[in-house]
Amino acid sequence: EVGLRRQLIDVHEAATQYFEAALKAPEAARAREYLTGRGVTVETIAKFRIGYAPDDFNHMREQLAKHFTDEVLRASGLFSAKEQSDGGQGQLYARFRKRITFPIANEQGKTIAFTARALDAEDEKGRPIAKYLNSPETPLYSKGQVLFNLDKAKAEIRANDFALLVEGQMDCISVFMAGVHNVIATSGTAFTEMQIRLLGRFTKNVIVNFDPDAAGAMAAEKSIGLLIEEGFVVKVVTLEGGLDPDRFIREQGITKYQTFGYYATSLRAAIRHSDFLIDRARHLFPGRTSDAKVKAINFLLPHIRRMPNRIQRDEFAADAAQK
Ligand code: CTP
Ligand code: MN
Ligand code: MN
Ligand code: MN
Ligand code: MN
Repeated sequence: EVGLRRQLIDVHEAATQYFEAALKAPEAARAREYLTGRGVTVETIAKFRIGYAPDDFNHMREQLAKHFTDEVLRASGLFSAKEQSDGGQGQLYARFRKRITFPIANEQGKTIAFTARALDAEDEKGRPIAKYLNSPETPLYSKGQVLFNLDKAKAEIRANDFALLVEGQMDCISVFMAGVHNVIATSGTAFTEMQIRLLGRFTKNVIVNFDPDAAGAMAAEKSIGLLIEEGFVVKVVTLEGGLDPDRFIREQGITKYQTFGYYATSLRAAIRHSDFLIDRARHLFPGRTSDAKVKAINFLLPHIRRMPNRIQRDEFAADAAQK
């Protein structure tokens, strides 16, 4: 008997091909227009195996059921089950519908889950819908243990001895297709210890390029703390104009991003993580009152304490005190 894990890998490959084919079908005209409108080329679609989940509850299940058992389909996370009043196993239906699909691959490049983007911000009745929908936790996939694009980026991360870390898969894809290949994405969650250990096998240097908004700054702050604890050297880039890396590249061009920008083994505009955090403290607790200063220092202290190296810790403390 073939193990469940192996069958789950196979069903994810089959689903990847199903979505890829669906993106080429006449019904997917809007999905293709959406991607074109975002500057996603045919080459990018092929490279990242981007697909489309049609507006259909049953078709993919019917197709996959020809090759996979009900148990495998249930365990895959590709389907939801209708609630049964008697608590029994309900009929399966497609979890992802009317969405652009992005395979999430393991380190070996095998699809183990999907994230899927809605084409619209609202449903037919005008109710807001979640922009991204992800596979649930399955025997194959745990969100906190995967880094998006690590399979394609790992060789260049090692060669360059640093990783560029972005939030979203579209950021990651745009940066990658623009020629910066050592880029990975956290997929909107704060970095986990497992993800950091995974990355630590390839480099101990990270440049964080999260969205220049409140959520991105918070996620950066949390991720920096964990990275420093694990002995990484961290720099931070904040793009101007409030644009995330994907939009920055699309609106300002890759050259601007690169001079902003990609430079030898580091981004030229990247600053030390301590400077990022000091700026952040000044932004969160503005003013020159002693109250603001106390709050700012209390915000920074845990970050200062975390620095494993005495000299760097003293330097961070001196900078914080001075500013
Ligand atoms: N995210 C998510 N669920 C949401 C919103 C966001 O899982 N409802 C995750 C996605 O991985 C997303 C990341 O958080 O890529 C960053 O969120 P955001 O900046 O809002 O999305 P973008 O990546 O900019 O998405 P897009 O460009 O497609 O609008
Ligand atoms: Mn390259
Ligand atoms: Mn954002
Ligand atoms: Mn974004
Ligand atoms: Mn975006």
